[in-house]
Amino acid sequence: MLIYAVKDYEELSRKAANIISAQIILKPASVLGLATGSTPVGTYRHLVEGYQKGDLDFSKVTSVNLDEYRGLSGDHDQSYRYFMNTNLFNHVNIRKDHTFVPNGLTEDGAEECADYDARIEALGGIDLQLLGIGGNGHIGFNEPSSVFTRGTHLVTLTQETRQANARFFASIDEVPTQAYTMGVGNIMAAKKVLLLASGENKAQALYDTVLGPVDPMVPASILQLHSDVIIVADEAALSLLNDKI
Ligand code: PGA
Repeated sequence: MLIYAVKDYEELSRKAANIISAQIILKPASVLGLATGSTPVGTYRHLVEGYQKGDLDFSKVTSVNLDEYRGLSGDHDQSYRYFMNTNLFNHVNIRKDHTFVPNGLTEDGAEECADYDARIEALGGIDLQLLGIGGNGHIGFNEPSSVFTRGTHLVTLTQETRQANARFFASIDEVPTQAYTMGVGNIMAAKKVLLLASGENKAQALYDTVLGPVDPMVPASILQLHSDVIIVADEAALSLLNDKI
């Protein structure tokens, strides 16, 4: 694991955007695994600026997103499809038909999961997977569990995750109870992984991810077994790790 310690959220966002930009410049037809949540918002803002300055070309890029709430349409302003459109896709020259997010409205959950795995495989796998990390160590919506799940699957969200995401909804009752997520196997199969962590509420999860045992109760800890992981974390997120790395 390569850990970049940065001062704050702004520096984290610039560093992450630079790493993703390098990926796109070196391989214009990259398959990017993308993430939602508050952490990557600044990263996407910098990528949009890079495009607007003429430094970045997304015309050959394909994207596959980590997850989507079950039951929300892509038009719902809390769906992850909507998030991606408004934070990135609408502002760069990526082809919309080359952007993939699980379809939250598919009736047959098993079929949606199998199709999504087949999609990733047909694309030749993910070149760079961007990840945030939950305060409970989740990646995508792979919640703490007794096992790691390999492929795309349907999860029941923990109360902690629904509570954390309730800030985006009118009330916690409106936060969906289930979501589609890529599995840990999909993430581990990415050629490169870029994990971002900002803020003190991520410090314990980041500590456990980097120094704890590999344990499905801390899903991100499996990244210790990946050969090309970059972590960009700010001072607050690194506060428990500082003198140990
Ligand atoms: P956040 O979520 O970026 O909104 O903190 C990260 C995550 O839950 O993966």
